[in-house]
Amino acid sequence: MRQLYLNPAQIITVNTNGLNYKRGGEMSNISPISGYSIVAENGMIKDFIPSSSAYKSSFDETIDLAGKIILPGFTDCHTHLVFAGSRAGELCKRLQGKTYEEIAATGGGINSTVTAVRNASKEHLFNSAGDNIKLLISQGVTSLEIKSGYGLDFENEIKILEVIKSLQQHFPIDIMPTFLGAHTFPTEYTNDHSGYLDIIINKLLPYVTQNKLAEFCDAFCEASAFSAEETEKVFYAAAKLGIKIKLHSEQFNNLGGIDAGFKYKAASIDHLEVIKSTDIAKFTDSETVAVLLPGVSFFLDYDFAPARKLIDNNAIVALASDFNPGSCHINNLSLIVGLAALKMRLTTEEIISAFTINAAKAIGIQDKTGSIEPGKQADFAVFNAEDFSELLYNMGSNLNYMTVKKGQTIYKAIDK
Ligand code: NIG
Ligand code: FE
Repeated sequence: MRQLYLNPAQIITVNTNGLNYKRGGEMSNISPISGYSIVAENGMIKDFIPSSSAYKSSFDETIDLAGKIILPGFTDCHTHLVFAGSRAGELCKRLQGKTYEEIAATGGGINSTVTAVRNASKEHLFNSAGDNIKLLISQGVTSLEIKSGYGLDFENEIKILEVIKSLQQHFPIDIMPTFLGAHTFPTEYTNDHSGYLDIIINKLLPYVTQNKLAEFCDAFCEASAFSAEETEKVFYAAAKLGIKIKLHSEQFNNLGGIDAGFKYKAASIDHLEVIKSTDIAKFTDSETVAVLLPGVSFFLDYDFAPARKLIDNNAIVALASDFNPGSCHINNLSLIVGLAALKMRLTTEEIISAFTINAAKAIGIQDKTGSIEPGKQADFAVFNAEDFSELLYNMGSNLNYMTVKKGQTIYKAIDK
């Protein structure tokens, strides 16, 4: 099957010359090209050819993209989109002056979603997650990470991971599952941390790895969740089982979790809203991706991560939605793009690198997606715009025209 993506106004290649990530200043270089079309063969990118010499007759399928731009399909590398219930009431409480952490400490927060998930069927979780995945695909997402972490006991953590497995089988995109049993302590273990650590380390992690239910083991190192010492215990056990590490850290506090992340060579350390300035340079030359989540800072109305300083220190910076029921109920990547620009002062070019190749690296799929380079999957987000700056200018709106995964059109907007 040979396909021709014909005559787009621009192709934003995010070319990396085979390196498959962009660090610091390189993030500004997204290598747009005009006057070229893309040839795909059996779902893979084969070549660029001048549009003036592209003959439709030599292809099985021609997709006419005049007046549109092609970007690498977006990767949303940090989501918690398998959940049940609503926490709209918490948002109202926050508007009355309560903080996220106060609400969590008084029966709300992660543990209220845990109650809803424990009472939910797999079918319900699958359907509600599926609705959100469809929304992401309609915005140009071709790869996704989903975390567990709202079960917090053996049965329900496995239930979530099995739902993620069904979602992987059902949706034609790459979905990477992450085990986040260490999201917080379930209420029944508030006063018995070692009891819950025992379940994670001796029951859940061995079962998850034996049954290949997750690619990564994540932990939330915060005052309301796991201490640095507890985080390290989880990582030590995970590393022994050969599962890769991710970390939520420096969201509200500096507990030293970030060092556990570097020690265990985490694929990514995510949040970093309150990272100490002396810790920023730890990302310089490190392969650990700094995943920033501007939607959370907006939704909870607090600090934004120091994105500029991280880029100036040569970090590999990615962006993600962190879509979840409590701290960021925003499933709109275009809005996240606007926040990254206006609140974190990232340029459009940096944002594109952060949502494509660097996000792919954060979940270990940078060799096959995240940039438009021959040999990679034909994963594209095609936008109704003549220039990529329109994406930022239209923040909050979905300009996506079509989403392509491995050469297959998986979403198309209604033609006007
Ligand atoms: O990434 N930080 C921890 N987990 C989520 C929020 C979870 C929740 O409030 O339900 C986050 O922000
Ligand atoms: Fe998160």
